[in-house]
Amino acid sequence: MNKDLLSLAELSREEILAICDDAETLKAELRSGMGPRPLVGRTLAMIFEKPSLRTRVTFETGVKQLGGASVYLTHEDIRLGERETVADIARNLSRWVDLVVARTFSHATLVELAHHATIPVINGLSDLSHPCQVLADLVTLREHRGPDLSGTEIAFVGDGNNVVNSWLEAAGRVGFGFRLGCPRGYEPDAAILAAAQERNPGRVVVVHDPAEAVRGADAVYTDVWTSMGQEAETERRRRDFAGFQVNAKLMSHAKPDALVMHCLPAHRGEEITADVLEGPRSVVFDEAENRLHAQKAVMVRLHERMQSGQAR
Ligand code: CP
Ligand code: NVA
Repeated sequence: MNKDLLSLAELSREEILAICDDAETLKAELRSGMGPRPLVGRTLAMIFEKPSLRTRVTFETGVKQLGGASVYLTHEDIRLGERETVADIARNLSRWVDLVVARTFSHATLVELAHHATIPVINGLSDLSHPCQVLADLVTLREHRGPDLSGTEIAFVGDGNNVVNSWLEAAGRVGFGFRLGCPRGYEPDAAILAAAQERNPGRVVVVHDPAEAVRGADAVYTDVWTSMGQEAETERRRRDFAGFQVNAKLMSHAKPDALVMHCLPAHRGEEITADVLEGPRSVVFDEAENRLHAQKAVMVRLHERMQSGQAR
């Protein structure tokens, strides 16, 4: 494991599964009121260039539950790369705080931040990936499908976006099946896709027919058609993604007990219908809840590695 968590490609299969195990333990400990507090006296800086509900609340709450504090910094506060260089911000923060989570428009900004910081930097979503989301989703899948996900088939219907890239990295390492159904022109990052297909031969597939993607799936996942930063493309995307809505008809191609997953926020009537999102197979709020536990596991692990001098 690196000093930072910028993508799931930096983790081994064992590390991903260990984070899921730790998240499950932290969740049980929180419920029993016996949670550990390894971050007493420590501070998490939270740099957010884009809006957030789940990521912000779960990191702030998570670090507090672990005994630490947080400082929330918007683009208006620090104007990353405008008021001050990314490198200088990284070097300042490294003198005061112990961890950074950053949500940036460009993944390159995160890489630069991590390069110049001497403390761990966690990706809280970039244009390229959303590793914390997929870690929480894996915890959720294990809760509903058991700890061994190797036989599980995940279908993702929609844009080959940041969340998909993290799913591909997870599928290549953990070894479950992953089928993306997306319109032509909305495929995921080519290098990430190729790496996942090489690691998990025959089980990572991109198709352009949503019913084919969903056929026999254990879970059907979707996300917004227009990600943050792409708002100028909203109308074109609505046209291009017509036919890629997760609705009752599409769900009829999946296994009868298939889970419905969405990272949220959801746009009912666009990428998913309200009846499916609110239906009995939906685990979307379990996913949201598990953000808290998965990210606590990541923070504890990165902090422990720094303390023990193992971080690279
Ligand atoms: N799923 C997710 O990351 O939500 P927020 O954008 O609200 O943080
Ligand atoms: N793909 C979405 C995820 C939001 C959590 C976005 O980047 O806006």
